[in-house]
Amino acid sequence: MDAPSDLCYAPVHTAGLGAKLCAELTEPPDVVIHAAAERRTDVVERDPQTVQKLNVGATAVIASVCEKLGILLIYISTNYVFDGTKPPYKPSDAPNPLNKYGQSKRDGEIATLEHYPRAVILRLPLLYGSIERLNESAATYLLHQIQDTSKVQDLCDYQQRRPTHVRDVASVLLQLAQRHCKGERVSGILHWNTSEQLTRYQMALIITDVFNLPRIISSQTRIPLLLARHAPTMHPWTSQL
Ligand SMILES: NC(=O)c1ccc[n+]([C@@H]2O[C@H](COP(=O)([O-])OP(=O)(O)OC[C@H]3O[C@@H](n4cnc5c(N)ncnc54)[C@H](OP(=O)(O)O)[C@@H]3O)[C@@H](O)[C@H]2O)c1
Repeated sequence: MDAPSDLCYAPVHTAGLGAKLCAELTEPPDVVIHAAAERRTDVVERDPQTVQKLNVGATAVIASVCEKLGILLIYISTNYVFDGTKPPYKPSDAPNPLNKYGQSKRDGEIATLEHYPRAVILRLPLLYGSIERLNESAATYLLHQIQDTSKVQDLCDYQQRRPTHVRDVASVLLQLAQRHCKGERVSGILHWNTSEQLTRYQMALIITDVFNLPRIISSQTRIPLLLARHAPTMHPWTSQL
């Protein structure tokens, strides 16, 4: 594997996928990076059964196919497998997801390791990068929010995030793939995040300055409702890896 352009995309459907993939892969790749998932927390809360099929069911099939064909599998997971009470987290720390999305990704990790104990699990924080639509990342979506200057935007200044650029993640993935192709053992649970920690309010301040927008935002420093136990989706206050 020389460059990210060698990476390819394939649709994931669980029914008959294992046998079909095994039959179709006459020239199996060296590495499969499994990033497909439903990661919108509100969607996962609304329809956990359907999401389970993709985030866990398809993951189990992909892991067993990779194991059978001797392909290194890198499963992309999330810091949301942790509850945020004891950061920074080591790969050996016990997960305790607070919401159904985090639980589905943890279940995906378990399914991966059950079917392919030597697979790689790469846990990542909030991601951003080149986009076509602002809603592709919680970080870029902030621009959409603060462009609306008709009202003061009350933004969370409590939950700590580690916005990490996907180009850096691609570089990590490429290095893992290259090491594997050189014959090095690449396996186990890995964590990767940037060293910079920001709240949504702090991210919005930076975006406001970069785009030279009027500062019609305010910081919501109290514990946001999203963290309260009765809220529809709980988020960890921080899950530094
Ligand atoms: N975004 C983050 O901040 C973040 C943070 C940590 C970890 N992660 C993890 O990183 C991975 C990628 O997340 P993302 O932010 O890139 O999510 P995304 O923008 O929602 O992309 C999800 C991808 O999954 C694909 N997908 C969904 N259902 C599929 C199916 N049935 N068959 C084939 N592909 C399907 C989508 O393909 P289409 O575009 O064709 O629908 C899309 O390319 C996920 O595993 C997520 O849990 C994300």
